Amino acid sequence: EALGGKMALLQRRWFGHATESYTLEDAPYAAIAGSVEFNRVTHENSLKWETIEPQPGVFNFTLGDKLIAWADANDQAVRGHTLVWHSQLPNWINNPAVPWTAATLKPVLENHVRTVVRHYKGKIDQWDVVNEMFNEDGTFRDTIFYRLFGSDYARWALTWAHEEDPDALLFINDYNFEYLGPKVNSAAAFFKSLVNEGYPLGAVGAQAHLIVGQVDEAGITAGLKKFTEFGLLLYLTEVDIRYEIGRGNDIANYTTSQVGQQAKDYYSVTKACLNVPNCIGMTLWQYTDKYSWIPGVWAGTGAALPWDVRLNKKPAYTAMYEAILEQ
Ligand code: G3I
Repeated sequence: EALGGKMALLQRRWFGHATESYTLEDAPYAAIAGSVEFNRVTHENSLKWETIEPQPGVFNFTLGDKLIAWADANDQAVRGHTLVWHSQLPNWINNPAVPWTAATLKPVLENHVRTVVRHYKGKIDQWDVVNEMFNEDGTFRDTIFYRLFGSDYARWALTWAHEEDPDALLFINDYNFEYLGPKVNSAAAFFKSLVNEGYPLGAVGAQAHLIVGQVDEAGITAGLKKFTEFGLLLYLTEVDIRYEIGRGNDIANYTTSQVGQQAKDYYSVTKACLNVPNCIGMTLWQYTDKYSWIPGVWAGTGAALPWDVRLNKKPAYTAMYEAILEQ
């Protein structure tokens, strides 16, 4: 009984989790994280720019490498998250006193992308090259990169990453990529143009931070298909399904029907991926409520993962398992 094993063997798909070397110091947690439940892992934070290039041109791969060694030891492939993102940038970039121009920032961006991909060549086979570049209305997000370069920064980053590691599968990743709407429509049109122009975009990451009671299998299937109909692969990169109601992060505080609804929702999102031939897998954003980012951002809510705060499996786990077995 292991989700990763089943996905890999029966479906030839990935079932992953996000973690960090600091959460892996918790031994009971690490035992599950390193088990055959998972065949792929993502660094939750430690490959982000502020951590990996804290000073201009000075790279610190310590935490990143630690998780790679752990993944190796536990036979898990690694998703790289993330090369270009407006959030968790180091202060030396986010500094209002530094008047960045296209001419000064472009070589910094190039050096960052190339150095990180080169360092992990052969160790990281999927990269979130650009993260969260769209607004909800489908326009490009106004970031330091977009202001200086327009959407070209995505074209350049894909090209640099591909030159450094031609074998890596390159992604553009975002949230609210699950259902049809203005964001999915214009992102898909942009991705189609990148593919037609010959840029090495290989896949779309749909983060899938979802809400209990708002998960619809047919709706997600249609949304994901919008990205795959012109050949791209698709991955659900950061799955969690949180409660919006204020019963906290412990599933013991929720009613049987609320727990059942979350299980249904995990079933639906798993089915949606399995419905789409190009959906190659899903990754939980931490597998347990114990280390979820959600209560830190939405106080009083949470309980979003298939394992609870005590590391016990919830009905959501069994529901995903059933969805996979049905395939
Ligand atoms: O490391 C410091 C620690 O030294 C300090 O004592 C502590 C005090 O707040 O903060 C720690 O850093 C926190 C870090 O997580 C590690 O725990 C940051 O404050 C906190 O902002 C950071 O949050 C992360 C968040 O990205 C930042 O935007 C979450 O863990 C991480 O799960 C979340 O992941 C993002 C994906 O990258 C992109 N998609 C959305 C997703 C959820 O927000």
